[in-house]
Amino acid sequence: MTLKTTDILASDAAGIAAAADVLRAGGLVAFPTETVYGLGADARDDRAVAQVFAAKGRPTFNPLIVHVADLETAQTLCDFSHEARALAQAFWPGALTLVLPIRADAGIAPLVIAGLSTLAVRVPDHPVAQALLHEFGGPVAAPSANPSGRISPTSPDHVIAGLNGRIDAVVDGGNCGVGVESTIVGCDGSPVLLRAGGLPREAIAACLGGDPAEGPDGGVLTAPGQMESHYAPQGKVRLNATDVHDGEVLLGFGPVDAPLNLSHSGDLVEAAANLFAMLHELDAMGAQRIAVSPIPMHGLGAAINDRLARAAAPRDQA
Ligand code: TXA
Ligand code: MG
Repeated sequence: MTLKTTDILASDAAGIAAAADVLRAGGLVAFPTETVYGLGADARDDRAVAQVFAAKGRPTFNPLIVHVADLETAQTLCDFSHEARALAQAFWPGALTLVLPIRADAGIAPLVIAGLSTLAVRVPDHPVAQALLHEFGGPVAAPSANPSGRISPTSPDHVIAGLNGRIDAVVDGGNCGVGVESTIVGCDGSPVLLRAGGLPREAIAACLGGDPAEGPDGGVLTAPGQMESHYAPQGKVRLNATDVHDGEVLLGFGPVDAPLNLSHSGDLVEAAANLFAMLHELDAMGAQRIAVSPIPMHGLGAAINDRLARAAAPRDQA
C-alpha cells in the first residue's frame, strides 16, 4: 500500500470539519471514543470500508461496528427487540455495542457486516466522537485503530505508532477514559454476551433483570474476529503472577512493587484505563517477558482478564 501523509487534527471545530471532509471523500480518519480510538470510514461506502481492512492488515473481512450519534439513528439501521431498546436506553451513549438484525433499507456497505444478517452498532460517549458524527451526518464504521492483532490504541500516539502513513488523519482527543473496548451484546434473540468490555456485565444483568447468556469460551462466540491472540504486545505474557521470574518485567495490580502498576489501590476502573497504555509502554521498553499480577474477575476485571488472556495466548499470526 502506498504511504500517505497522516494529518493530526485538533479536536476543535476546524479539526472536526476537516475530519468529516475526509470521511465524505471516502478516506480514513481515526478518532477518540471513550473506550479506544476507532478507525472511521463512511459505513455506506464499500470502497472506504475496504480501505479500513487494508490499512489494518486484517486477514479476513471481520465485521465492523457502526457508530451513530443516537438511538433514533440506530433504529433506522437495525430492528430493536424490547431488551435491545432497554439496554440502549440505559447505557447509550456508552461502552455498549448491540448486535441486531440489520434492516433491509439500512444502506450499509455489505463489507461492514461481512455477509452476516446482523449489524453491530453503538453510540459513543465522547464529545469528539459525537461532534464528528453530527458534523458528518452519517453512520461511521470503525474498528479499533490498530494494525490487526496488535493492542488497541488509547491515545493519538498509539494510533500514529501503528498506522502512520496508512490513514488520512487522526483527531487528537487525548487519552481514552475507559481504556478497553465496548461490551458486545447480541440481541438477535435473547441477549448473549459476545465480548466483555467497558460496561460491566453486572450492569447489563441489572438492566435485563438477569444475567445475559455467555458465548462459549467466556464471551466470544460469534464475533468472528475474536482470534485468541488478538491483543498482543511483542513480549511473551505470563498471567496470575505472584512472583517475578528472571528476565520478566512485572505489570502489577494492587500493592505490589512493579515498574508498571495498573492500579496501586486495586481500582479496576483505573486498571482498565491504564491497561493498553501500559502494554504499549512494555512494547516501547522492549520487554521480552511480561508477568502480570492476578486481577479479580468482577466489574471491569472481566474485560481486563479477557484482554490479558488474549495477550498471553499462543501467537498464530502477526
Ligand atoms: O469500543 C469499541 O468497541 C471500539 C471503538 C472504536 O468503538 N471498536 C472495536 O471494534 O473494538 P473492533 O472491530 O476492534 O471489534 C469489533 C468486534 C469484532 O470482534 C467483530 O468480530 C465484532 O465486533 N462484530 C462486529 N459485527 C458483528 C456482528 N454483526 N456479529 C458479531 N460480532 C460482530
Ligand atoms: Mg480491535
